[in-house]
Amino acid sequence: MSVTEHAGAAPAQSAPADSVLRVEHVSKTFGAVVALRDVNLYVKPGEVLGLVGDNGAGKSTLCKIICGFHQPDSGRILVEGKEVHFRSVQDARRHGIDTVYQDLALVPQLPIYANLYLGREETLGGPLRLLARSRMRRVAEDYLRAIKVQVPSVNADVETLSGGQRQAVAVARATRSQVKVLLLDEPLAAMGARESALIIDLIKDLAAKGQSMIVIDHNYTHLFQLCDRLAILQEGVITFDRLVADTSLHELTEYMVSEYRRQVDTGRVERADGSGRH
Ligand SMILES: Nc1ncnc2c1ncn2[C@@H]1O[C@H](COP(=O)(O)OP(=O)(O)O)[C@@H](O)[C@H]1O
Ligand SMILES: [Mg+2]
Repeated sequence: MSVTEHAGAAPAQSAPADSVLRVEHVSKTFGAVVALRDVNLYVKPGEVLGLVGDNGAGKSTLCKIICGFHQPDSGRILVEGKEVHFRSVQDARRHGIDTVYQDLALVPQLPIYANLYLGREETLGGPLRLLARSRMRRVAEDYLRAIKVQVPSVNADVETLSGGQRQAVAVARATRSQVKVLLLDEPLAAMGARESALIIDLIKDLAAKGQSMIVIDHNYTHLFQLCDRLAILQEGVITFDRLVADTSLHELTEYMVSEYRRQVDTGRVERADGSGRH
């Protein structure tokens, strides 16, 4: 069957035994809205998985469940083969799952180095628990240099940075400690070409170092550059899961267009010209 004929859930993929992350039969509703239905997903060590889907498909919800922000209604999550129950984002972080949110979660009024240490500041020891500022500054400088992120100074407040630099600091913050799986929810949203290139290079460098990642992005060209495998989420269901080597930009585009037509035909979305809905 060609993928363009496809209009249902992708056949259940059995996750490889060495998966670093497995999502099994996860469902989530918000009141009357079914955000996710029986979602199965896996990421292998060192693999970059691209997650594609229309607005409202459930991509961010899936990310937020994997990173402990939301709890699933049913289904389970396994990290390195062991079932986990994350009660919070911090809990997931302790298990090596970290996220760069769409809205970044940096503190604009604090310097770059302080943002890199947010929630895990180092102290000098002793009863006053004074912050080890110069050590944090030095480590922050070294780390940003090592991952080739250029900022004017680690003492500069985040609010003085461009969108691309902020995103780079957010990625740096997430990857500074050992991360088993890094989730990136639209890391290139609202970024210019030069800034996107900066972040793409950063993600590619992390991938080359063997960092497992899930990247959500609407730009298929970027995803084909970055990812090993692509999954499509539609109305809360994974409908496509394929190695980048076994698909093409053309096939993916055709698939999404045919799905859009199917939704127009069944009255689920309005045509771009506004006709077809009464
Ligand atoms: N906290 C929430 N409360 C209620 N509805 C939500 C919440 N988060 C997401 N939704 C709904 O769940 C669906 C999936 O949303 P989301 O995961 O943000 O999609 P995507 O990231 O693919 O655009 C949408 O219909 C959205 O309105
Ligand atoms: Mg989203």
